[in-house]
Amino acid sequence: MNDFINDFWANYVAAASVVSILACALLLWLTARKRVVPSDDNTTGHVWDEDLREANNPLPLWWMGLFVITILFGFAYLAFFPGLGSFDGKLGWSATGQYQAEVAQADKELAPIYAAYTSMPVEAIAGDPKGMAIGERIFMNNCAQCHGSDARGSKGFPNLTDTDWLHGGAPDKIVETITKGRTGEMPPMAAVVGTPDEVRNLAQYVLSLSGNSTDSVRAGLGKSKFTACAACHGIGGVGNQALGAPALNDNVWLHGFGQDAIVAMINGGKHNVMPAQEGRLTEAQIKVVASYVWGLSNKPQAKPAP
Ligand code: HEC
Ligand code: HEC
Repeated sequence: MNDFINDFWANYVAAASVVSILACALLLWLTARKRVVPSDDNTTGHVWDEDLREANNPLPLWWMGLFVITILFGFAYLAFFPGLGSFDGKLGWSATGQYQAEVAQADKELAPIYAAYTSMPVEAIAGDPKGMAIGERIFMNNCAQCHGSDARGSKGFPNLTDTDWLHGGAPDKIVETITKGRTGEMPPMAAVVGTPDEVRNLAQYVLSLSGNSTDSVRAGLGKSKFTACAACHGIGGVGNQALGAPALNDNVWLHGFGQDAIVAMINGGKHNVMPAQEGRLTEAQIKVVASYVWGLSNKPQAKPAP
């Protein structure tokens, strides 16, 4: 259960804990044994500030008792809870276990709230203000760290508010993306394309697809090389959602705009992962957050009259 490569530190910490507790007991015993011989007026003979004297009164018994109880508590705690190196404790308690139990409890309590949404289509949930509010909260807690709190994404993380989809924007596609995750796999293509000069020509051709070429001569020379790309990106760079290959004929750039960014893509390729949420979120939560995402770029279905 410990994260160290061997047991040394676990044992070191365990030994330090036990030794500290024993040292407390020893200190208590030694001080209890020591008898100060009182003077006539029952002071220790220490005097401060002219007339402040230290009286020689023993600690009250209950106070001594607290020390003893603390020491016994320390040993009992270490026996029942994980505290001694890699020893799990008799109760088998762990922070992760407690967290999971609390999550399971919360899921159970929230189930009735989500129950209404499991039978509703995504289009309808997106039209329900309460559903969208829940969806937004799930998004903020689970998705915003990558896609941004406004869902507009950033370099490498797609914008979810536009109508440009890598893997498809239909409700069932969004649910599938969130549930199973996605991997965008663009292989390094330089070897297929040829020399660095030919790679630059091709990059100019790719830019020309969206009307952004700065060198039409190069773009013309690069055109024939695009056949290797069309297998994934489609003829004319229209994109292919089944492969997660983005359209190259629009002005949406996931990995940066311009000749250098495209040359880098051709040379280096890309492996881009959207992590599966299955197991982290319940099916109902995924549906509600998918509705939220869908609603960011679509007009929700009019709410049926109550
Ligand atoms: C660790 C970062 C990360 C987290 C967390 C994350 N995503 Fe993603 N997501 C990505 C990346 C990267 C992609 C692009 C995958 C690719 O390139 O094919 C993506 C793609 C997507 C897509 C597909 C977009 C398209 O154009 O087809 C959707 C929808 C999506 N994410 C929704 C979500 C939702 C909803 C959550 C929260 C439950 C979430 N993501 C959490 C990184 C993340
Ligand atoms: C095996 C399929 C495949 C082939 C072949 C392929 N690509 Fe890609 N390409 C992808 C995928 C998938 C992505 C998206 C990566 C991601 O999800 O982040 C991508 C992304 C890109 C991007 C980034 C787009 C953006 O919005 O930033 C460019 C540019 C690009 N490819 C150009 C090319 C060129 C040029 C070729 C031909 C030399 C090519 N690709 C060949 C699959 C492919």
